[in-house]
Amino acid sequence: MSNSPISTLGVLGAGQMGGGIAQVAAMAGINVKVFDSFPGALDKCKAVHAKSLAKLVEKAKLTKDAADAAAARISFVASLDQLTGCDWVVEAVIEDVRVKKDLLAKLAAMYPSDDVVLATNTSSISITDLATAAGSTAHRVVGMHFFNPVPLMQLVEVIPGIQTSPAVVERTIALATAMGKTPLRANDRAGFISNRVLMPMINEAFYAWMEGVAEPQAIDGIMKLGCNFPMGPLRLADFIGLDTCVHIMNVLADGLNNDRYRACPLLKQLVIAGRLGDKTGRGVFEYPAK
Ligand code: 3HC
Repeated sequence: MSNSPISTLGVLGAGQMGGGIAQVAAMAGINVKVFDSFPGALDKCKAVHAKSLAKLVEKAKLTKDAADAAAARISFVASLDQLTGCDWVVEAVIEDVRVKKDLLAKLAAMYPSDDVVLATNTSSISITDLATAAGSTAHRVVGMHFFNPVPLMQLVEVIPGIQTSPAVVERTIALATAMGKTPLRANDRAGFISNRVLMPMINEAFYAWMEGVAEPQAIDGIMKLGCNFPMGPLRLADFIGLDTCVHIMNVLADGLNNDRYRACPLLKQLVIAGRLGDKTGRGVFEYPAK
């Protein structure tokens, strides 16, 4: 039986983040509709769900019945018009302000009632700016920032834009809690808290490598063993995606108007060379299996 404050969640984007959000919601008893128009994205998302749910069963974090029930709650649609009947929508598409605004404007038109919250999983783009896409219902747009891998990470960073109503913030906190997560609030400044603190650390690790202070294995080893990080900063950069790291540094530099947030030249060069991390099989480190 679900304790969820909503019955059907719409998720835009079937990638790592959208797929993870869909899975966690379904595990909390919420019906989920996932939309992605990219060919193959939905099949890939289903396969990721199957693997992740099987792993959680193997680790006795979920029963087989609960895993099957969660999978059965998720449906997939390849056109936005089919994303009907939702009482909450979260977008987790590419970190491009124009793409996100375009989709939020379409969602606001599809769902004229401001009872339907429009949440964005942006990692760093201004919620206040994105909310303008919802026009007169900008008060129902809120930042709901999940962390990768979503099924394992505890936090949801909740970010109200200037226009977001206090009631929507309370509802977001309630939903994140019902999804088994711990919601923590941050204000709408570039990078919020998570990426404002995390990304400069990752960027600094690239500077340390570029300046020859230590090799990547040593940089990561020092931070893992000395600071108890589960992954070193360079391994984590590969996991997040080096292109995403550059993008977030650009948002910090522009949004906080400070060049100390500019991406390290070596980090930018790796991106130019197509070494984006886990997703391309090579970033700082190599991942031959991928
Ligand atoms: N679903 C289910 N199980 C999963 C999973 C998933 N999505 N991903 C990993 N697992 C499983 C693994 O298969 C593994 O199982 P095993 O023990 O049977 O092999 C188990 O979880 C533990 O994984 P690992 O042994 O590979 O490694 P760890 O014990 O280190 O845990 C981790 C993995 C939780 C990813 C841990 O390394 C970690 O916390 N890393 C840091 C992650 C982090 O910082 N994420 C935030 C990134 S920033 C972000 O997302 C914000 C954005 O805006 C940039």
